[in-house]
Amino acid sequence: MRTPLIAGNWKMNLNLADASALAKAVKDSAAAYNDRDVLLYPTFLQLTQVAAILAGSKVSLGAQNCSAEKDGAFTGEISASQIKDAQAGYILIGHSERRHVLKETDAFLKQKVERVLEQGLMVMLCVGETLAERESGKAVEVVLGQLNAALSHLNGDEWRKIAIAYEPVWAIGTGKNATPEDAQAMHEAIRGRVAALNADIAPKIRILYGGSVKPDNIAAIMAKADVDGALVGGASLKAESFAELIRLAK
Ligand code: PGA
Repeated sequence: MRTPLIAGNWKMNLNLADASALAKAVKDSAAAYNDRDVLLYPTFLQLTQVAAILAGSKVSLGAQNCSAEKDGAFTGEISASQIKDAQAGYILIGHSERRHVLKETDAFLKQKVERVLEQGLMVMLCVGETLAERESGKAVEVVLGQLNAALSHLNGDEWRKIAIAYEPVWAIGTGKNATPEDAQAMHEAIRGRVAALNADIAPKIRILYGGSVKPDNIAAIMAKADVDGALVGGASLKAESFAELIRLAK
């Protein structure tokens, strides 16, 4: 059995006071459930404060990105080991805003996966196709290509440190979301590819859906067999809607 995971990606939103208040509210909402996991991705600068708020709770903490390098002369970058110092357990790698806005390539993201695993932290790898790729019938090929590029070299222990988030680029922040059937079809293809790479891990790995997940659509998406959670942007920024998402995430 895979425990459902609801993750809030706060992106570059919220000041420290609002982030702290939201973290407290999420901690309280999550406390009512033992059968689902909750994870928050604040900005780097808020990790330490949010970690202190979440201490002793079941809510996990993650960073939205990390450097592809271990340490050294990389001005403005933040390393996986510094993120570990800040008490985060997960690092999000390859979010579409980094792939498409910041032009991060598959090869660069593979290096980041290496940095996260060196620290013993969890990777949440985001994969997803653009609208043009979907319309030209290439969605599965693109998504599985991204997965292969970042993960196909992993060993068995490393696979235990991986979660995958399928986020169709055209659904992020647009109010459009994949139908539950389309999400399931892609999640099934992703799990099939993981099975080809590591048969033991495939039934255990969590595959989240992301892209305009809201309280009114989460239940139908999560009802699908291979959807193990949601990575939520906009609807994770309000305490009430995030509490609803946690409640509905079965
Ligand atoms: P959204 O963002 O829920 O606002 O579409 C999801 C994400 O980018 O992870």
